[in-house]
Amino acid sequence: MQNIADILIKETFSREDIITLLRVEGDDKKLLFEKAHEVKQKYVQNKVYFRGLIEFSNICSKDCLYCGIRKSNPSVNRYNLSDVEILDAARFAFENKYASIVLQSGEMTGNFFSRRISNLLDQIMKLSNNTLRVTLSCGEQSADTYKEWFDHGASRYLLRIESSNRDLYYKLHPQDDKHSFETRIACLENIKTIGYQTGTGVMIGLPFQTMEDMADDLLWMKSIEIDMVGMGPYLEHADTPLFQFRHDLLPIGTRFDLTLKMIAILRIMMKNINIAASTALQSIDKLGREKAIKIGANIIMPNITPGQYRNDYKLYDNKPCTDENPEDCKSCLEIRIALADNDIAYGEWGDSIHHLQS
Ligand code: 5AD
Ligand code: FES
Repeated sequence: MQNIADILIKETFSREDIITLLRVEGDDKKLLFEKAHEVKQKYVQNKVYFRGLIEFSNICSKDCLYCGIRKSNPSVNRYNLSDVEILDAARFAFENKYASIVLQSGEMTGNFFSRRISNLLDQIMKLSNNTLRVTLSCGEQSADTYKEWFDHGASRYLLRIESSNRDLYYKLHPQDDKHSFETRIACLENIKTIGYQTGTGVMIGLPFQTMEDMADDLLWMKSIEIDMVGMGPYLEHADTPLFQFRHDLLPIGTRFDLTLKMIAILRIMMKNINIAASTALQSIDKLGREKAIKIGANIIMPNITPGQYRNDYKLYDNKPCTDENPEDCKSCLEIRIALADNDIAYGEWGDSIHHLQS
């Protein structure tokens, strides 16, 4: 096997290099994490930017086989926040100097929905004197809709590819027009062309997923020059079809560890992008997000969805912080990030440097 230090000094990683890095343990793993930490410090500093996350509706027209809020799950209590509730949450973020928010929902389409988002964007811009940066995470939409939202002030868009391996993608989604891999890719291209800071991501430790797939995911992110990434461990949900494969999964600790390695490797490969410490990490390890921050992540998305709705936005089992309110999350995170020797960049947008320089 190649010496890890020799791989870590390379300008670019091959597929084999990445697979080797995904397998490191012990002192070699320490080397990987130290290198990622160093790159993070040099290119994006020891800073963490907040994105206040508003999960404004769990109504979804999709049926992804892994997701707890999929359309065909009858046990979900469906909700849709009112405009006032959404704007109150945005105001909380503004007043607490989060500087950025994320509006996330199940996937809905149509004129009513797109106009509602445009109107909300107008009002968010107004209440924050055009200073809040808004990320949208509302799934696949037409190019016109993406453009309309961009024109109304959204500047970042998140659309995870979930897996960049087309065959694996179809094992995770129903085989129909509504769940097309090609459409997903086309949407990402449209988002990028329109001028959004573009974010994607994958799940790690999925059934049928190999180390080769994970390495290819990172190479694919680099090849499309992505600006922002959110990756998290796959966590099984009892009310989903993929739950039947739970006995074939990697142990949960291994999925956690692989996620940290993926973040560290990506930080070295794409030095100036924004990488989120996903909430899913925290549901495995109480200090999961802080560990991710130490080795490369620089974004945290504190949940600012009003407390009473959080229990109903369960994409996976054991989602953390569902009993908290936004104030509790804020003080809890302040302590946690200080523990990770990072500073919270209150009042700073934290735009993707990769995007600004492209
Ligand atoms: N485990 C982990 N992540 C999940 N997501 C959805 N379901 C699960 C799950 N069971 C992630 C998907 C989606 C994001 C909003 O949540 O990657 O894009
Ligand atoms: Fe939500 Fe700690 S981050 S309670």
